[in-house]
Amino acid sequence: MTGETLRETRERLELAIGLARAAGAIQRERYESDFAVGTKSSAVDLVTDVDRACEQAVVEGIRAARPGDAVLAEEGGGQEPDGATWRWLIDPLDGTTNYAHGYPCFCVSIGLEREGETLAGVVYNPLLDELYHAVRGGGAFRNGRRIRVSGETDLGRSLVATGFAYDRRENPRANLEHFGAFLRTARAVRRDGSAALDLCAVACGRFQGYWEFGLKPWDVAAGVLLVEEAGGRCSDPAGAPAPRDGSVVVASNALVHEAMLRVLAEHP
Ligand code: IPD
Ligand code: CA
Ligand code: CA
Repeated sequence: MTGETLRETRERLELAIGLARAAGAIQRERYESDFAVGTKSSAVDLVTDVDRACEQAVVEGIRAARPGDAVLAEEGGGQEPDGATWRWLIDPLDGTTNYAHGYPCFCVSIGLEREGETLAGVVYNPLLDELYHAVRGGGAFRNGRRIRVSGETDLGRSLVATGFAYDRRENPRANLEHFGAFLRTARAVRRDGSAALDLCAVACGRFQGYWEFGLKPWDVAAGVLLVEEAGGRCSDPAGAPAPRDGSVVVASNALVHEAMLRVLAEHP
């Protein structure tokens, strides 16, 4: 990217980091408190007052500092000014089901794209106080220290993760065959309930791989860049670039990627 674009990206990255920390502080303060819980697309797709409060804090911060930028935010609080070059993709609370049940695995995820290309990403886990960030071409970091994907080459010694889409009651077989196939081939499989943190776990080498179907753009925008900047690979099940809409993502340390694609191909 040009020097001017890099400067503009870095300025926005600083804003994103501040807003992620602010939303994370809200999550931390209200964790295990008495907040309202409702449903969205299905009976298992939850939203809480805390999701909305986090989104408001992030979106208002962007609107104040960058009124000309577009914002796509999960709970609908975004904006689309005419002619916007930059777009922010916000998941104000990724891991809402965990949050609603007091299971300590959730985060805020902020991706930043320019003319359709993701240039920066920030994910903040407030309970562990882990802040991940990446700028395209500049590497991936956790709390300011460079992170890299795992060096494991064997899927049989790999810890992999997945998730299940919110239409799982209507479409119960979705992803179950893949889950079973990875149980038989990987060392173990996790379902942690936060797509953004799953991707961060691949980026920093905790997981060797992760796959999921039926995600949204705000789930993957930051995390995919983090994986790639940490030396990993993200694709669709055929090995083509991962779609930006989040409809499917296969992420890995690159070394076990082809083996993961072969497992996914067992149940096309
Ligand atoms: C969800 C989480 C979960 C994944 C779901 C996502 P939300 O996001 O990332 O891990 O399996 O598909 O929708 O609703 O908690 O922001
Ligand atoms: Ca999410
Ligand atoms: Ca969310």
